[in-house]
Amino acid sequence: MTEAAFQLSGIVQTFPGVRALDGADLMVRPGEVHGLVGENGAGKSTIIKVLAGVYQPAEGRIEVGGSTISPATPEKIRDAGVRFIHQELHLVPYFTVAESVFMGQEISGPFGLCKREMRSRAEAFLREELGSELPGNRLIRDLSPAERKLVQVARALVDGAAKVVVFDEPTAPLASEEVLKIMTAIAKLKTRGIAILYVSHYLNEIVDICDRVTVFRQGKNVAIFDEITTDTGPALVSAMIGRDLDAFFPTSSRSAGEVALRLEHFDDGQAFSDVNLDIRRGEIFGIAGLIGSGREELIDALYGLRKSQGTLTLDGATVDTKTAAKAVANGMVLVPRDRRHDGLVLPMTVAENATLATLDENATFGLIDRGKARQVTEALIKDLDIRPSNAQAVTRFLSGGNQQKVVLARWLAKSAKVFIFDEPTVGVDVGAKAEIYQLIENLASEGAIILISSSDPVELVGTCDRVAVMMRGDVRTIIEKQDLNVDHLVAVTTGATSVSETEHAS
Ligand SMILES: Nc1ncnc2c1ncn2[C@@H]1O[C@H](COP(=O)(O)OP(=O)(O)OP(=O)(O)O)[C@@H](O)[C@H]1O
Ligand SMILES: [Mg+2]
Repeated sequence: MTEAAFQLSGIVQTFPGVRALDGADLMVRPGEVHGLVGENGAGKSTIIKVLAGVYQPAEGRIEVGGSTISPATPEKIRDAGVRFIHQELHLVPYFTVAESVFMGQEISGPFGLCKREMRSRAEAFLREELGSELPGNRLIRDLSPAERKLVQVARALVDGAAKVVVFDEPTAPLASEEVLKIMTAIAKLKTRGIAILYVSHYLNEIVDICDRVTVFRQGKNVAIFDEITTDTGPALVSAMIGRDLDAFFPTSSRSAGEVALRLEHFDDGQAFSDVNLDIRRGEIFGIAGLIGSGREELIDALYGLRKSQGTLTLDGATVDTKTAAKAVANGMVLVPRDRRHDGLVLPMTVAENATLATLDENATFGLIDRGKARQVTEALIKDLDIRPSNAQAVTRFLSGGNQQKVVLARWLAKSAKVFIFDEPTVGVDVGAKAEIYQLIENLASEGAIILISSSDPVELVGTCDRVAVMMRGDVRTIIEKQDLNVDHLVAVTTGATSVSETEHAS
C-alpha cells in the first residue's frame, strides 16, 4: 500500500450550533484521483478549508507527505505542496493569460519583469502539463469558462512544487464539451504522481475519473469506495443520502395545452439571430446548447439583461422584457443561473430570503402576513430539504448548495404563468435535484409554462417534453419527446450528428 500524500484524521470542526465535521477522516495517495462526495452541507468544503489552514479544528490531525503539520496555517500547507483550485475564480478580466499565471509569483531579472519569459513559460506549462494551446497574450475576459479554469490551475501549479491538488467543483460552470479540457488536465497531473482531491456533484464525472471515492454524510466519512466501476453510481447515491433514491425524475401524465408563449424573431445582432419558439401551456420546454451557441445570451435577453430585438407574447399579449422587473410584473419568473451572487442577502435569515419575491402576495394592505410567510417557507424548507431546516438560520452560514436552494425556494413560492430556469440544479446534490424536478413537474401540471436552459443533457432529457438545440446562434432543431435521449441530444448539441442526418434516420 502506498503511503498517503495527505491524511486528515478524526477532524472535529464546530460552528455555533453546528458540528460541521464530527470526527471525519480523509486519506489520499500520490498519483490517485480521489473523489469526495456528499449531500449539500455534508462538510466537504469545510474539510477542504481545514486542510487549507483556514479553520483550526477543535480535534484531529493533519499530515502531509508523512509529517504532521500542527497547527496547519495557509503558509505551511502551501510549503508542503498543497494547492487549491477554488470554486470561485480570482482572475482579473483585463490581465493576460501569462500575467494571470504568474500573478503574485512574477519572474523578474536585473531589468525588471521578464515578460517574454513569463509568456513562454505560461504557454509551455499550459501545453505540456495541461494539454491546452492557449496563447499567453490572450485576455482573461476573452476566455471561455473552461479556459479560465485552466489558467487558474496553471497558476496554482506553475512553480512545479505541487504534490497535492484540491479541486472544489471545478466543472460546475462548464458546458459538457468544456469539461473534457479539465479532465485531460487532471489526467496529466495524475501521471506525474500528483495526488488529486476532486469534489463534485456530478457523479458521472466521479465515476469516470476517480480511482477511489470517500463519501461524507453529516460531517463524517460514511463509506470509502476502493474500486470504481460503472455500477458504482447508485451505490454512491445510497451512501450519500443514507437510503435508496426511488425515482430521480418524476413520472408525468401531463398533456400540454395550446401554444401560450411565443418568441418571435429574437435577435441580439451578435450571439443569436432570428430565434422563434412556440411553447404550450403546461409544457416543460428545454433549451440545450454549448457555450457560444447563443443559449445563455438568449436567456439573458429574456431576463432583460441583454439588449435584443424580438417579440414575446404571452396568451396573445405582448410582454415587455426590457427589464427583469417588467417581465416579473407580466407574470414571468426568472430563476437566474448565478444564484449565490444574484439575489441572496447573506446576513438575512432563510425565511426572509425565501419570501423576498413574494412580499406582495403575503401582504394585505401593505402589511406582511408573517404567519403565512412562515408557512410558505416551512413547506419549502421541507420540500427542498434545506439544511439546517430552520427558517431563522442566517443564510451566510449555509453550505453552498443549501444557499442555492434558498433562492430557488424564493422563486418557486411565487405564483406565475411562466417560469424560466437557468441551470436549475447547479451545485445541488442528488436528493435535492430530485425534489426540484418534482416541484417543476408540479408547476407544469398546474398549467405553468416552464422553460429550462441547461448544460446538463441528462437533466433536459429527464424533465423536458421538447428540447430546442441551439448552435452558433440558431435553433438548429427541436427534439420531440419520443426522440429525446441523452446520446442523441449530446450528438446534436455538439454537432457530432448533423440535424439533416437525424431527419433522414427518423
Ligand atoms: N462559517 C460557518 N458558520 C456556521 N456554519 C457553517 C459555516 N461554514 C459551514 N457551516 C455549516 O457546516 C455544515 C457543512 O457545510 P459545508 O459547506 O462544508 O458543506 P458542503 O458539503 O460543502 O455542501 P455543498 O455541497 O452544499 O457545498 C453546514 O451545515 C453549514 O451550514
Ligand atoms: Mg461546498
